[in-house]
Amino acid sequence: MNFCIKTSYCALVFLFSQCIHANPTMFSDVINPNSNQELSQNDWRNSSLSMDKFIDDLLEKMTLDEKIGQLDLQSGYRGVTGPFVNAAYEQQIRNGNVGAIFNAYGAEFGKRLQTIAVEQTRLGIPIIMGHDVIHGHKTIFPQSIGEAASWDLEAIRLSAKIAAKEASADGIMWTFAPVADIVRDPRWGRVSESVGEDPLLTSAISVARVKGFQGEDISLDDTIMATAKHFVGYGASQAGRDYNSTDISEHSLWSLYLLPFKAMLDAGVTTFMTGFNDLNGTPVTGNRYLLEDVLRDKWGFKGFVVTDYTAVKELVAHGYAKDEKHAAQLAFNGGADMDMVGQTYLKYLKLLIEERKVSEARLNGAVRRILEMKWRLGLFADPYRYHDDKRAAQRILTKENLAAANDMARRSMVLLKNHNQTLPIDTKKINSIALIGPLADNRYDMIGNWAGAGDRGAQPVTVKEGLESILGEDVTTRYAKGATHSYLLSHTGMSSLMDIDVPVSGQTVQDLQTEIDEALKIAKESDVVVMVLGEDQRMSGEASSRTELSLPGNQQVLMEALRSLNKPLILVVMSGRPNDLRWADSNVDAILHAWYPGTMGGQAVADVLLGKYNPAGKLPMTFPRTVGQVPLFYNHKNTGRPIGSANPAHTPAEYTSRYDDSLNSPLYAFGHGLSYTQFEYSPPILSSEKLTPKGELTITVQVTNIGDRKGEEVIQLYTHQKVGSITRPIKELKGFQKLEFAPGETKNVKFTLTPADLAFFRADMTWGTEPGEFDVMVGGASNQVQTLAFTLTD
Ligand code: BGC
Repeated sequence: MNFCIKTSYCALVFLFSQCIHANPTMFSDVINPNSNQELSQNDWRNSSLSMDKFIDDLLEKMTLDEKIGQLDLQSGYRGVTGPFVNAAYEQQIRNGNVGAIFNAYGAEFGKRLQTIAVEQTRLGIPIIMGHDVIHGHKTIFPQSIGEAASWDLEAIRLSAKIAAKEASADGIMWTFAPVADIVRDPRWGRVSESVGEDPLLTSAISVARVKGFQGEDISLDDTIMATAKHFVGYGASQAGRDYNSTDISEHSLWSLYLLPFKAMLDAGVTTFMTGFNDLNGTPVTGNRYLLEDVLRDKWGFKGFVVTDYTAVKELVAHGYAKDEKHAAQLAFNGGADMDMVGQTYLKYLKLLIEERKVSEARLNGAVRRILEMKWRLGLFADPYRYHDDKRAAQRILTKENLAAANDMARRSMVLLKNHNQTLPIDTKKINSIALIGPLADNRYDMIGNWAGAGDRGAQPVTVKEGLESILGEDVTTRYAKGATHSYLLSHTGMSSLMDIDVPVSGQTVQDLQTEIDEALKIAKESDVVVMVLGEDQRMSGEASSRTELSLPGNQQVLMEALRSLNKPLILVVMSGRPNDLRWADSNVDAILHAWYPGTMGGQAVADVLLGKYNPAGKLPMTFPRTVGQVPLFYNHKNTGRPIGSANPAHTPAEYTSRYDDSLNSPLYAFGHGLSYTQFEYSPPILSSEKLTPKGELTITVQVTNIGDRKGEEVIQLYTHQKVGSITRPIKELKGFQKLEFAPGETKNVKFTLTPADLAFFRADMTWGTEPGEFDVMVGGASNQVQTLAFTLTD
């Protein structure tokens, strides 16, 4: 667990003590390979050797301790308390115990640490500096699930590129992203970091991010190394509870969870991070099959593998290793090259090598891979190339970066409902807007969780500011907080679920009522009511699972009170997961999902509410009606008794696969998202009813913008194979195109299918096709499609 990132949960004093606990070696004895401190005589800058020769030479010179030091990744605690360094910590670097650090950004700060590594260790090997640059470094873009809702690969690539540009100018050369965990359970807090439930969309977006971060070559300026994480299956944490075990069939593992990782590998991702999860009985951090047989041998991965935070140590708690030494042996032999924070390699690898439980060849292989990345990053040629203050000033929080963040935020928004075209707000017809909700004038939550080095203070633009910047003096904006968007009660401890009643906000029932009354008052005086509600950003992200999907706090009470006024009622949701929006769907006039939209989020929300931008986002994850339907995803199997298959002769309706108290269908389907204009789809046309093994098929559909406003539409293509050697999902996304249409414009949209698109892991686990009948579906959402049939021939 990364205690140190979660600043806001606790007082600084508490954090400080947690940080010390999280890194026990800060004040403890560590191996010191270099007790006779001598300054490095090595200046690699002028080496003319090839990478392989250079590393051969360096490996020859390195002692066992120096090699083991390269496998250690430590946390520098930046981002919590500022550059947090003391003599003991710097001594770790001086001792050669640090191959890489993270949470240690800032050009000047990084330079200070790099100087120790380069000038005060025997060999002068530079360190890699990493950080969780997940959706921006200082200019914060929308949370990952929000970016995914744009279905806009180019905008997402640009977002990662800008993040890399800012981070690399600020001393960072490695990000722990993209997160490519497929997720089907919105209770899991890390949904917000993901791309959602679909393997094709997750693969495409993860590849766009790898390209954005790494550019053409990680030796170039403005690029950083990316990390494919969390390898693999972490998103299937049972019951949506973080860090829980995972149990995934071989077919699902290969057909779903591994696909985005293979795609990132093919796109050249330089590092992989293991997950925290126990997968089918073998924790992934010690999983030789996955890390060695699949990743290295079958897929040919050449980069290095880092563990997640203290994941090696955790093999003991998993019941997989008998002690930390055993854990180090299993994780290292299992294929994990670098140990994040736990320092088990530092403490035990030498002994394990002496006892011949770990081979020197394995050690040399891991060290070589890490040195190769240092070489490819250009660190041997110029160890200070990421530490130039002037570059930071030119690259960070520039006008262009902020404009791109605004653009991405607008693209991420999904219009879930728009009864009677309540949105966009027609400012010519109104005099006043009541802007209500705990997220309406809130900078802190705007940038979501894992928000890099983003500022939660002055920087983010709130919705109130966004609206006021556009609205002239003719329209008055009145604001009231109205409700609390976090748990009303806090848990005193983990021993019992609700064993207390400490109001989180310190508010009394009377305080809460006063807030609602204030909201009602301004709503009564206004023509339109805009509620900006959702979750406190700390309710999603790591270690933030929920059992409920409802809007937290007393927001439901607020919504119901406002509804009673019978004014046009608009809901903007800010949240990192699909919530239960049943009541809102039936009772408010329009719903816009804004996720956590980032530094420019309030401006982007205002642009959409006031019609300066026409929303085009589509859901990357199914929104269930109720938490009781979870897991609910569009690409499920048909079952032997699908709903709708009732036949009075033998299967009455109640004996089909259904609930007694809910519909099966979601509230909002995967791929759903409205626009201020409307798109009409012609009947699609197939080029043939047969697809031969070497042939191709085209599906053409005419899409027309029948409204009077410019707009974008994501046209989605799905297939379903009717019979297979294993049962096939009822629908699988096979392609999508996001296109812009002028008012009245028609476009011929063409998709091409080849047999390769129809391949899957067959019953015998081989990858390939099976001839037979298929449905092909095209439309603007997974539940809004037109269907045609074709046959894949022998
Ligand atoms: C998270 C990782 C993250 C790491 C470093 C862990 O707790 O699971 O996703 O990269 O911390 O901050």
